[in-house]
Amino acid sequence: MSDKNSREHWGSKIGFILAAAGSAIGLGNIWKFPYLAGENGGGAFVVLYLICIVVLGLPVMIAEIVIGRHTGRDPVGAFKQIGGGRWKLVGYLGVASGFFIMTYYSVVGGWTIGYIVKSAGGFIGSMTDIRAAEETFTRFIQNPFETVFYLFLFMAITVFIVMRGIKDGIEKWNKFLLPLLFIILIVLIIRSLTLEGASAGLAFYLKPDFSKVDVKTVIEAMGQCFFSLSLGMGAMITYGSYLNKEDKILSSSLQIVTLDTFAAILSGLAIFPALFAVGMTPDKGPGLTFNILPVVFSKMSYGSVFAVLFFILLFIAALTSSISLVEVVVAFITDEKGWSRRKAVLVFGSLIFLLGIPSALSFSTLKDVRIFFGTTYFDFMDRLTTIYMLPIGGLFIALCLGWKYGLKNAIHELDADTRLAALKKMWAFSIRYISPLILVAIILYFGVYRMLFPH
Ligand code: PFF
Repeated sequence: MSDKNSREHWGSKIGFILAAAGSAIGLGNIWKFPYLAGENGGGAFVVLYLICIVVLGLPVMIAEIVIGRHTGRDPVGAFKQIGGGRWKLVGYLGVASGFFIMTYYSVVGGWTIGYIVKSAGGFIGSMTDIRAAEETFTRFIQNPFETVFYLFLFMAITVFIVMRGIKDGIEKWNKFLLPLLFIILIVLIIRSLTLEGASAGLAFYLKPDFSKVDVKTVIEAMGQCFFSLSLGMGAMITYGSYLNKEDKILSSSLQIVTLDTFAAILSGLAIFPALFAVGMTPDKGPGLTFNILPVVFSKMSYGSVFAVLFFILLFIAALTSSISLVEVVVAFITDEKGWSRRKAVLVFGSLIFLLGIPSALSFSTLKDVRIFFGTTYFDFMDRLTTIYMLPIGGLFIALCLGWKYGLKNAIHELDADTRLAALKKMWAFSIRYISPLILVAIILYFGVYRMLFPH
């Protein structure tokens, strides 16, 4: 085990906030949030989502950062320290989640590089209808060489950054990439909103339709909030473990959550007005990004430029999240097993690449190989982690802090400001009662009900 005092720290509070926001802002924000909102009542969903952030997202985010900073260790070491005994399994579950998520997340990361290259090559010109766009996308993901090559490239970039460490790698790159992500988002929003007919998309996206909100929508919003904030697997424990003692956890958490929510809401503002302006409807669910948006770009002037920008945006979102996923694994190996960062990143980066190959091939060579409940390897990894591992991890994180370690100890780690006493009490109440209850509801709904009765 490495000496706790020799651990690296963030160079600045803003460096930590941007890195944590970089972890949170990912494919979940740019790709999933807009269509979930579009399908589930627009503005009503946004309101609901904000409530989820307050009652679930923020409390668990604070809990993870508290655990990380308090112990100054990776998730496994952290749970050994605050829980002892079997509680360390929560840490192992987190590290395994990070590893497994990477084996499919990096494949989509690779696709984003492929689409940057294709857009720069001018392929948007021929994407004049959905059939053409769908065919292009299918042909792309069915090409084993291309997808494995881009997977390799994406992993190589991630490995390059994580290998350089906390301050010189993760912090430095997030400080550059995250502002760039917001600049691109704003450029895309301006383009989208100034297209003729954009207002119909704006109305669709934001006009609240509360009739679409029911218990299912509420749980859907809770699940999305949890994944979007990178909770339940120790990413925030790990990033929190590099936080300086003087930095305030409550205000940092609030800023991270705000940035993540902004990114989610803004990406809908970039997507829907443009979609409606070119006369397309948003009823395509997850296929929106790769199947529909190329058609939208083909219909606007300078479409290729905006397409390149959009896929760079998606790439940055995927990259900064992947960095945190890999860092969870690396922190565990360096802290608990005493490996050097370089060796840990190279070995585990290569393993993720190797186990990512069957994910990349799940659309081509291994298309017909069903491994569990009739799913492909890619879908299996996705479902296993997002439906089971993250919410179960989150549940035990809250239970360990709330019931085993005790919140009195944890509260010391929060800001000393006595004016915040009421807020701290609310947080403690949420971690003990509300967060566990919501997480159980999420596990039962997604993990049991939806598995037994798919729509
Ligand atoms: N928050 C990321 C997203 O919204 O795409 C996904 C993610 C990253 C989940 C890192 C968990 C994690 F530790």
